[in-house]
Amino acid sequence: MPGAPMDDRAIGIFDSGLGGLTVSRAILELLPNERIFYFGDTARLPYGSKSPETVLRFSEENVRFLLGKDVKCIVIACNTATAIALPQLAKQFPIPFLGVIEAGAERAASCTKNGRIGVIGTERTIASGAYSAALRARNPNLSVIEKACPLLVPLIEEGWVAHEAARLVVREYLDPLEAAGIDTLILGCTHYPLLAERIRACYPQITLVDSAFSSARALSLMLRERRLESGGSADGRMEAGLRRGAITVWVSDYSATFHKMAEGILQSSLDGVIFSMDAEMNG
Ligand code: DGL
Repeated sequence: MPGAPMDDRAIGIFDSGLGGLTVSRAILELLPNERIFYFGDTARLPYGSKSPETVLRFSEENVRFLLGKDVKCIVIACNTATAIALPQLAKQFPIPFLGVIEAGAERAASCTKNGRIGVIGTERTIASGAYSAALRARNPNLSVIEKACPLLVPLIEEGWVAHEAARLVVREYLDPLEAAGIDTLILGCTHYPLLAERIRACYPQITLVDSAFSSARALSLMLRERRLESGGSADGRMEAGLRRGAITVWVSDYSATFHKMAEGILQSSLDGVIFSMDAEMNG
């Protein structure tokens, strides 16, 4: 029957904490029929300073948790886990995966006018060289300047995005990239879009690439190609800023700060939507 629902199961998304909610927001805006099951591994954040072995192990556990919720595909809304674990996860688990690095690289390569692209991310993402490789695969003549910014995730998780300390730290990290003449900057961590306004105020001449929107478009394509699109099981009614049932969030450590920040990102009340993984596991 034409137009029949193809797969009404939810899309699984994980990140170490809040960051992946920026990707979730873009997905909910672009794909109004889809539902999201989100897992934020807040008890073990940050991932960006952990060893590759640990990031891979945590990522495998997150995937198992989401598979237990019967999701139809998994978006790794974490650059660190994408850089370290995506190929292995895709081999290991029989479900389609989407990472966030390719989409951001694609967008940046098409945005730059002078061929100088900055990339900021966690220590692990930058050390992996995943962005340089993805950018150079698109255009070997690009000049890529990368910078690990380990202090940004803790500032964001603390809710300090508008704090003067955030401005000082941003300047400390990004002034050398500005001096190197970049015209495009990839926010290579899904937490960083929460600082985009702050970064834009310091460097208005630099184009910021937030891979959330490009990743949402890539997901839309993937769902269509694999016939995984939903016919619209979230019931379409708006409830406190979000469609009813559009997203359910689990965290490995619940905190009021996470709850408040998540509501800010999704611009919606999340009462009754955020669950602690442990509380659920312990019944
Ligand atoms: N948001 C994540 C990323 O995109 C990870 C941040 C962290 O846990 O260090 O890399």
